[in-house]
Amino acid sequence: MTTSDAPVITPSIPPPTITSTTTAVELREVHKTYAGAEPVHALRGVSLALPTGSFTAVMGPSGSGKSTLLSCAAGLDVPSGGRVTIGGHDISTLSADALTRFRREHVGFVFQSYNLVPHLSVADNVELPVVLAGREPDHAWRAELLDAVGLSGYDERRPTELSGGQAQRVAIARALFAKPTVVFADEPTGALDSRTGRSVLEVLRTTAQRFGQTVVIVTHDPQVAAVADRVVFLADGRVVDRLDRPTAELVLTRMLSLAGA
Ligand SMILES: Nc1ncnc2c1ncn2[C@@H]1O[C@H](COP(=O)(O)OP(=O)(O)OP(=O)(O)O)[C@@H](O)[C@H]1O
Ligand SMILES: [Mg+2]
Repeated sequence: MTTSDAPVITPSIPPPTITSTTTAVELREVHKTYAGAEPVHALRGVSLALPTGSFTAVMGPSGSGKSTLLSCAAGLDVPSGGRVTIGGHDISTLSADALTRFRREHVGFVFQSYNLVPHLSVADNVELPVVLAGREPDHAWRAELLDAVGLSGYDERRPTELSGGQAQRVAIARALFAKPTVVFADEPTGALDSRTGRSVLEVLRTTAQRFGQTVVIVTHDPQVAAVADRVVFLADGRVVDRLDRPTAELVLTRMLSLAGA
């Protein structure tokens, strides 16, 4: 599918409502320490600015802070220090309730394990964030999105009646349904075979591109990272490298040099 198909869907999409700058997400000196007998410094001063419409891959060894970074950037978790701005709004200043409302409107999240609600149909799963936000879901929009992820006609299926790749595509449709400013995906292809993973990623990329959304994914796979506009490498809670216009070979070389450093 190419962007030349866009006129089919674009007319129903309003322009982004809160993007007053060209930066969709900004992290400034974000720290995250998990309390405990031995406090864990999962993020040690991460600063990032993600341009609107960009596709960023976050890479790094296990335990380097990738999931923590995504959770803090998405407002699912509260940083111990620093600031997170989404579409020009400083989310660190929001109360827990206001943050939940803000997230439902402006943030989509795709989890590695899909997180679909098992007793709800595909249709209800996709519409859930908007229903939870107390708004009337747009059924035609749901149909367009399910079509965009290749699941036209799957509305009444249950998550248990789907393959892994199909379930992940439902999760992507759900993340995009509220037309969020930014979509975060934590290893969205991690549980899939490489071919299914690539097709799911392609769906995420083309769909987000059509709607001008900003995407941030975590991945361990250089082939997946190569789809991004930019790769950010984390180690021990810090950004240690960046790579623009990555190829799988360049990503692999950079990973090996970081591992050797
Ligand atoms: N809820 C928590 N409580 C305490 N420590 C945590 C918590 N969540 C994560 N950590 C710790 O914070 C550090 C960063 O974890 P995080 O999950 O962000 O890593 P990651 O890069 O996503 O790793 P992986 O590739 O294995 O998913 C790790 O040392 C981890 O043990
Ligand atoms: Mg993780």
